[in-house]
Amino acid sequence: MRVVILPTEVEASNFAGQFITDYINNNKNPIVGLATGGSVLLTYEALINHYKNGMLSFKNTITFNLDEYIGLPPNHIQSYRNYMNQKLFDHIDIDPNNVYIPECFDENFDSASSNYEANIAKHGGIGLQLLGVGSNGHIGFNEPTSSLQSRTRVKTLTKNTLSKNARFFKPHENQPSLALTMGIGTIMEAKNILLIGLGKHKSKAVADVVEGPLSAFCPGSALQNHLNATIVLDKLAASDLKLYDYYLQTEKMKTKYNC
Ligand code: F6R
Repeated sequence: MRVVILPTEVEASNFAGQFITDYINNNKNPIVGLATGGSVLLTYEALINHYKNGMLSFKNTITFNLDEYIGLPPNHIQSYRNYMNQKLFDHIDIDPNNVYIPECFDENFDSASSNYEANIAKHGGIGLQLLGVGSNGHIGFNEPTSSLQSRTRVKTLTKNTLSKNARFFKPHENQPSLALTMGIGTIMEAKNILLIGLGKHKSKAVADVVEGPLSAFCPGSALQNHLNATIVLDKLAASDLKLYDYYLQTEKMKTKYNC
């Protein structure tokens, strides 16, 4: 695991934006896995800026989102499809036919899940997967005790996740308690992974992901088994890491010796 610690949210997000830009620019047919939520918002702003400055085009990029709520009608304001349109897709040159977001409007969960997996496979697999992390250690909507081998399927959201995400819903709005999510096994097949953690409220989950035991109780800890996982953090999110100074030193050496 590469752990990059930067002073502020903006610097960590700019690093993530540059990382994704480099991946897209260095690949003929980039396949990018995307996340929603608060942690990735500044990263999406960085990508939009790169596009506007002519440093990046999404013309050949195919995207697969990690998850979508179940029980919301198509294009509901709180759907992750709507989030992605508003926060990224409406501002860049991506072909809408190249955008995949899990969806299930008819309770045929199994076929929606297997179709999603089949689509990822048909395109040759995800090249770079962007992740946030829940304060309970979830990645995608793989809640604690999800199988570390799990595939795309329906998950029931924990009370913790529902209360953290309640901020996005108005008091009268119905907040779904189910989601269709890529599994941990699905995520682990991405060739590269970039997880971004921002803020003090993520510091415990980040420490569990990076330094805790490999455990289904902290789904993000599965990334310890990935060969190309980069964790980018602001200082606050990194503040519970035992080897904080070591990670800073490692990055200095990487710059000095280009290794
Ligand atoms: C959403 C997703 C989730 C979020 C996580 C953190 O697509 O995959 O795992 O990344 O819940 O959410 P924020 O960033 O809102 O704290």
